[in-house]
Amino acid sequence: MKSNIKPANGKLGILLPGLGAVATTLIAGVEAVKKGISQPIGSVTQMGTIRLGKRTENRRPKIKDFVPLADLNDIVFGGWDVYEDNVYEAAINAGVLEESLLNKVRGPLEAIKPMKAAFDHNYAKNLTGTHVKTGTRYELAQQVMDDIKNFQAQNNCERIVLVWCGSTEVYFEPSDVHSTLEKFEQGLKNDDKLIAPSMIYAYAALKLGVGFANGAPNLTVDIPALIELSKLTQTPIAGKDFKTGQTLMKTILAPGLAARALGVNGWFSTNILGNRDGLVLDDPDNFKTKEVSKLGVLEDILRPEENQDLYGEIYHKIRINYYPPHGDNKESWDNIDIFGWLGYKMQIKINFLCRDSILAAPIALDLALFIDMAKRANMSGVQEWLSFYLKSPQTAPGLQAENDIFKQLIKLENTLRHLMGEDLITHLGLDYYEDLVEDVVS
Ligand SMILES: NC(=O)c1ccc[n+]([C@@H]2O[C@H](COP(=O)([O-])OP(=O)(O)OC[C@H]3O[C@@H](n4cnc5c(N)ncnc54)[C@H](O)[C@@H]3O)[C@@H](O)[C@H]2O)c1
Repeated sequence: MKSNIKPANGKLGILLPGLGAVATTLIAGVEAVKKGISQPIGSVTQMGTIRLGKRTENRRPKIKDFVPLADLNDIVFGGWDVYEDNVYEAAINAGVLEESLLNKVRGPLEAIKPMKAAFDHNYAKNLTGTHVKTGTRYELAQQVMDDIKNFQAQNNCERIVLVWCGSTEVYFEPSDVHSTLEKFEQGLKNDDKLIAPSMIYAYAALKLGVGFANGAPNLTVDIPALIELSKLTQTPIAGKDFKTGQTLMKTILAPGLAARALGVNGWFSTNILGNRDGLVLDDPDNFKTKEVSKLGVLEDILRPEENQDLYGEIYHKIRINYYPPHGDNKESWDNIDIFGWLGYKMQIKINFLCRDSILAAPIALDLALFIDMAKRANMSGVQEWLSFYLKSPQTAPGLQAENDIFKQLIKLENTLRHLMGEDLITHLGLDYYEDLVEDVVS
């Protein structure tokens, strides 16, 4: 087997801007797995398998045994937040995991104290934390770079990767300051307010050649300036927005309906959640960022412009409401109006009682491990093969995103096969029958 990926020797530091529900669920989960008291369910790198070669070869290793990923025992976590709580306290506040489980990993969680955040209140008005850095945006970027370097040295890490787990920032469109690296760097020096805090972290990471994944729907690395920087420093990036909950269900179900040429003329999605994410999303400007990220998914899968008869009339609506009693246990309802043979109408109702961070944590882990591997494989710029994990996948300019989760999985698996010098799998399957025919003839 041929592979040009450098081995995952030594420790991997995973640094998370935003130590809230997702980040603390990830850290506590990995610590619990390391202790042997839980299983990393939902993590494709840890639990998923991959078929290699022909079906008759019966080769189906676990992904973590196939590609050289960092071992969970070699991971060291750290991060930043606008609140001072250590990871144990933050996890208790987030209310995702039971206290009894958190107490079993209390030591390592308490040891992780957030570094001061690069923050601008205008980007998340519902947050009141004061554990923040001071200075111009340029100075903040320098401070974040120092944080990364110090963390790496203090924890004896061979490599570092950043995954944005911070709050969703307010909606805005890319503008001139985001258009080139030169303008962006000038913008940092001018303390240009159009540079969002998440971009400061991303810039700092990429400048140091540290891979970056974005778990929120804000632009962050999805701007020409930072794509340019990622290529310059040969660093992989991926974004945006962890694909969990309702959108996960949508990208599982919609491809199935489209595959059977069933029509869809309405998809109403509403959900209630009561965690800090929900509080931030209660602000219309922050909700707008999320809405845009969620809305594109159906249109990309069903492609109304290419199939007017089946999807030309589709009405797609999304609502998110902040409802504190539910905490992190988001509840979502989907009403899907579909039609079949001769236009006869049917309905599908989904009521998903989901645990948002339980679905997001394994995604954050996989993104960190794959971005780290991509760096060792000399892959740089946008890693579209990681779109499997993302609601609003970043692609090359002008390229339509692929949102169908099954196509995304094929893309991810074939990328891994390609990297490891294995045959790509097309699922054609005719060769099995050609062999049979040849056997009979000979
Ligand atoms: N939970 C999910 O299933 C899910 C799914 C998709 C996307 N996301 C996104 O992931 C992000 C995290 O979600 P969560 O549920 O953990 O939210 P959360 O509110 O519990 O945690 C976010 C944390 O980020 C901190 N923060 C905000 N701005 C910061 C900054 N500039 N620097 C450092 N820290 C900062 C906040 O103080 C907070 O503690 C959100 O943007 C959310 O929209 C979550």
